Amino acid sequence: MPSYFEYPSIELQNELRQTAEAIVTPGKGILAVDEANPAIGKLLAAVGLDNTADNRRRYRQLLFTADDKLSENISAVILFDETVYQNTDDGTPFIKVLQKKGIIPGIKVDRDVVPLFLSQDEYTTQGLDDLADRCAQYKRAGCRFAKWRCPLKIGENTPSPRAISDTAHILARYASICQSQGLVPIVEPDILLDGDHDIVRAQKVTEVVLAAVYKALSDHHVFLEGTLLKPNMVTPGQGSPKRSSPSEIALATVTALRRSVPAAVPGITFLSGGQSEEEATANLNAVNKTGLYSPWALTFSYGRALQASVWRAWAGKQENVGKAQAELLKRAKANGLASQGKYEEGSVTSLAGDKSNFSKSHKY
Ligand code: 13P
Repeated sequence: MPSYFEYPSIELQNELRQTAEAIVTPGKGILAVDEANPAIGKLLAAVGLDNTADNRRRYRQLLFTADDKLSENISAVILFDETVYQNTDDGTPFIKVLQKKGIIPGIKVDRDVVPLFLSQDEYTTQGLDDLADRCAQYKRAGCRFAKWRCPLKIGENTPSPRAISDTAHILARYASICQSQGLVPIVEPDILLDGDHDIVRAQKVTEVVLAAVYKALSDHHVFLEGTLLKPNMVTPGQGSPKRSSPSEIALATVTALRRSVPAAVPGITFLSGGQSEEEATANLNAVNKTGLYSPWALTFSYGRALQASVWRAWAGKQENVGKAQAELLKRAKANGLASQGKYEEGSVTSLAGDKSNFSKSHKY
């Protein structure tokens, strides 16, 4: 319990609140393009390209130079460190290209996972030590928000109380440091799709983890109006024989959130977590149609579920850039509608729309 605290200055509160609210403008969500180099390397290899800085740049240029209509449904983009400093072919910084479209640039700041010693295959995340300096630098480069992902796995004895409290503490320290430097923290406790648990177990674990996270954020005096939450949707594990419909997933998800996320948080931007593009859209749509009161915007911050068809269409070839950009616009539009509960299931067909994007212990 705090014996002393201060609120951030009114100017800082206003800046953080405005950024967070702009990201969750109705009908808009986030494009997550912050794959670390090994993760994008696998995608490049699948289209026959080497994992070079220039190939990574060419792929991301394709996304950022899509038609200006992109900003009708994409409010913000999460970048990886290298991408912050890259340019288009004509030398324009990516950050400038995004800003010109009215898209807010953000940055992944966690330094990924390492094993949690003496645990049952659990992890902790790294990157707090020099975080304030890195945030200040990203802010100068034009970023206005950050993201930090802490994955947790459901198993017979996991997530353990130790992993949950570690996640909560790390996310709270991260959020506090980001706010000190004027960046909105996106808080991402990612309860993985891995496992054969049912949806009831996933819901309870989500509730327990989120409750711990918000207790820690309170303990660290994090200004909630200037934050966003990026959680998993509540679904059965990938290996569960019992599948759930979008309306069952939506009910479990919104129930868990209503039990654990304060109303001061302006928005919840779901990760896709290995769902297919169409599943992620249909489930988001259902989440916005439960009829349950929700005080926050409920929208998307998808990586795989916005890019699977783009990769399929591009196939690493310059002549396919336009086709790949069209796939991106289609999915962005579908998710923009879903974030308002206005998507009709199956009405947008994409090249890889039904392909599962699940991979075991996915590293982003
Ligand atoms: P997915 O939508 O592919 O799960 O990625 C979102 C993300 O940013 C994970 O940290």
